[in-house]
Amino acid sequence: MSHQFFFKVSNTSKNSRKGIIQTAHGDFPTPCFMPVGTQATVKAMRPEDVLNTGAKVILGNTYHLMIRPTAERINRLGGLHKFMNWPHTILTDSGGFQVMSLSSLTKVTKAGAEFRSHIDGKKIMLSPERSIEIQYLLGSDITMIFDQCIRNSSSKDDTEKAMNLSLEWALRSKISYLSYQSRPGYAIFGIIQGGLYPDLREKSAQELIKIGFDGYAIGGLAVGETQEEMFSILDSIVPFIPVDKPRYLMGVGKPKDIIGAVKRGIDMFDCVIPTRSGRNGQAFIRKGVVNIRNTVYAEDMNPLDKMCICYTCQNYTRAYLHHLIKSKEILGAVLMTQHNIHYYQDLMQDLRDSIKNNNWEMIDNIHL
Ligand code: GUN
Ligand code: ZN
Repeated sequence: MSHQFFFKVSNTSKNSRKGIIQTAHGDFPTPCFMPVGTQATVKAMRPEDVLNTGAKVILGNTYHLMIRPTAERINRLGGLHKFMNWPHTILTDSGGFQVMSLSSLTKVTKAGAEFRSHIDGKKIMLSPERSIEIQYLLGSDITMIFDQCIRNSSSKDDTEKAMNLSLEWALRSKISYLSYQSRPGYAIFGIIQGGLYPDLREKSAQELIKIGFDGYAIGGLAVGETQEEMFSILDSIVPFIPVDKPRYLMGVGKPKDIIGAVKRGIDMFDCVIPTRSGRNGQAFIRKGVVNIRNTVYAEDMNPLDKMCICYTCQNYTRAYLHHLIKSKEILGAVLMTQHNIHYYQDLMQDLRDSIKNNNWEMIDNIHL
C-alpha cells in the first residue's frame, strides 16, 4: 500500500465541489462525513458496519489514545489501523481541542499545553512535537497540526494571541511532521483559527498557506455560535484557501449545517452528533428527526425512515427501538447509531449527486 496522497476535484456546482481524496489506506469521495472513533472505536459499531454505511474514512483522537492505551502501546501492537481492525483511512485530531474541552487545570505556554488527565488526574504535556509524534506512532493517514483552542466568548485580543500561538505551533507541527521519514500516502492539514473575526481568520489562513499544508481545516467553530455566524465565517474564509486543497470543517454538525457548509465549498466533516444522539434516542431521518423515547412511538410499526435501506430500518420498528432505548439496552444504541451513520452517509451521497448533476432540489426537499 503506497498510494500517493492526492485530492482531485471532478465536478463543481457554484461554490461546491465533488472530488476524491486518496491516502495510504485507500480513497474516498468528497464531500465526506467522517464518523468519530475517539477511543479506537466508532461507538456501538463494528468496523464492517461502519464501512457498510458507505464511510471509508474515520476520525481518531490523539488526546484519548495518548492517555489510554498510549500511542507507544498502539505502535507496538502494529498501529491504529491494525489495532482496531479498520484498514481504511484514518484522520487523527491533534488534541488541541480536547485539551480545552476535556482536561482541567490547563496551563498553556509557548512550549505547549500542560494539563491533568480527565481519567486519573495525571499531569500530561502536549506540545506540537509530541502531538505529531503520537499521530505518527498511531500511523494516522491524515495528521492535524496542534493548535490552541479557546472559547469563542474570548475577547479579540485573546483570540488574536491564541491564533498567533497556533501559527507558531503550526510551523513546529510541520517541521516535526517532516522529520519523520517521507511517506507518500500521508498528509498533514493546517487548522485556521481566529474566532468570529474575519481579519484574524484571513491572517491565519494566509500564514498557514505560506507554511504549506496538504489540506486546510477550519477550527474554532461549532462551539456555541449561531449557524449564521458560522456560515458568515465560511463565506469570508473559503476564498482564501487554495482550490486544489481539501477544506475540512471540524466538529460540524447537524444535517442543515453540513448542507450549508457544502454549499459554501467545504469538503470534509466530522461530528459526534449522529453517534452520540443515536445512543440518546435521537434519529436523523429524511424530513426531520425522531426522538424515539417519545411515547407516540410506543406502538409505531413503521421503520425509523421509510426511505432508508440501513439494517435497522430494514428489520426493526420504531416501537421496538422505543422499548430498547427506554430500557437502556445496548442493542438500542447499536441500532440507532447504525441508522444515523447510514443516514449521514446517504446525505453526503445526495450532496455529491447534487453537485454532479448541478441540481439541488433533492437536497432542499428531502433533508430538512
Ligand atoms: N475539533 C473541533 N474544532 C476543533 C479545533 O478548532 N481544533 C482542533 N484541533 N480540533 C477541533
Ligand atoms: Zn435507517
